[in-house]
Amino acid sequence: MELAALLDRAAVRPHNLASEELAQLLSLEKPDEVAALHQAARKLKLAKLGSGVALRGLVEIGNRCAKDCYYCGIRSSNKTVERYQLSVDEVVSAAQLVYDFGYASLALQSGEMESTDNTEYIAEILERIAPLKLGVTLSLGEQREEVFARWRQLGAARYLLRIETSDEQLYAKLHPATHSYARRVECLRSLAQLGYQLGTGVMIGLPGQDINSLAHDIIFFKTINADMIGMGPYIPHVATPLAQTPVDTALNFRLALNMIAVTRLYLHDVNIAATTALQALAPEGRERGILAGANVIMPNVTPLKCRTGYQLYAGKPNLDENIVAARTALDESLSAIGEHVLYHQRGDAPHHARRMANL
Ligand code: 5AD
Repeated sequence: MELAALLDRAAVRPHNLASEELAQLLSLEKPDEVAALHQAARKLKLAKLGSGVALRGLVEIGNRCAKDCYYCGIRSSNKTVERYQLSVDEVVSAAQLVYDFGYASLALQSGEMESTDNTEYIAEILERIAPLKLGVTLSLGEQREEVFARWRQLGAARYLLRIETSDEQLYAKLHPATHSYARRVECLRSLAQLGYQLGTGVMIGLPGQDINSLAHDIIFFKTINADMIGMGPYIPHVATPLAQTPVDTALNFRLALNMIAVTRLYLHDVNIAATTALQALAPEGRERGILAGANVIMPNVTPLKCRTGYQLYAGKPNLDENIVAARTALDESLSAIGEHVLYHQRGDAPHHARRMANL
């Protein structure tokens, strides 16, 4: 089908593309076609969410991880990483900084740890930061339902748990046998039931992943009824088993932007992040993500002394940035593309309000 007609049809209502059409759009590579795809997605973002970019101050609170994913730099088998965990006071200070910056939303991320100590550590943080009334996203991996419920009760509003790939066979190749795809899906379902704004996402350009698998990922986002999507290009990390498998990072970058655009065209009113991994491959990667239909950026506010410890992939940017200067730089780079930061707004996805109303 002709591209312009396909893009018009996608904008009429959500989910208005067949899986082969999703794949067709994801594959676009001619500059004029890619530009048309990104423009259509951006237009839809403006129509559904208005102008402006919502921010979440990202605090990487610890890099200890019980998981051993074959692609990730902080996998438990990587003994070359020095492990850290921020103190509760350090996290509270970072949250205060986010508040002072006027960001209104905070994301706390760490490796996956399931223990009573960890549950209580997060609980204490949530209690301490509650007076700031920030929109709080947790990204702390798979947990038992009671743990999700406890954190929800203490004020966490959103949870981000990437499925990493919705292709179960590929999932099995990228993780040790002890990691269960089914449990990850189960976690997503219980998070949704508990009333969290549900975030998930995938890596793009994984060894063994093809266009049909990415199209399937987008359909998975719909099936799981996600409110927020965080995706980025896969970037090899030297201390991982997958480091030996070459990848075409230029291709992954292009595919990642196309994934943002096609996800916007398929889901319409969800939050989509332009992630740090895009910025790792191109200095203006996040801005290009916004121009392809994303509406959220997660500036890193982790204390600098810990940043080298949280390298999930090679070339992670901003290991030594000045956090205040980075804030100004983001204001400027967004205004250069005709955008602006939505200060003092939490930036909840309209999709969540709609989902809750239909429950
Ligand atoms: N390249 C890109 N993203 C990665 N992540 C982990 N390892 C890599 C990598 N090598 C992503 C995963 C995880 C998130 C925190 O970081 O998707 O969910």
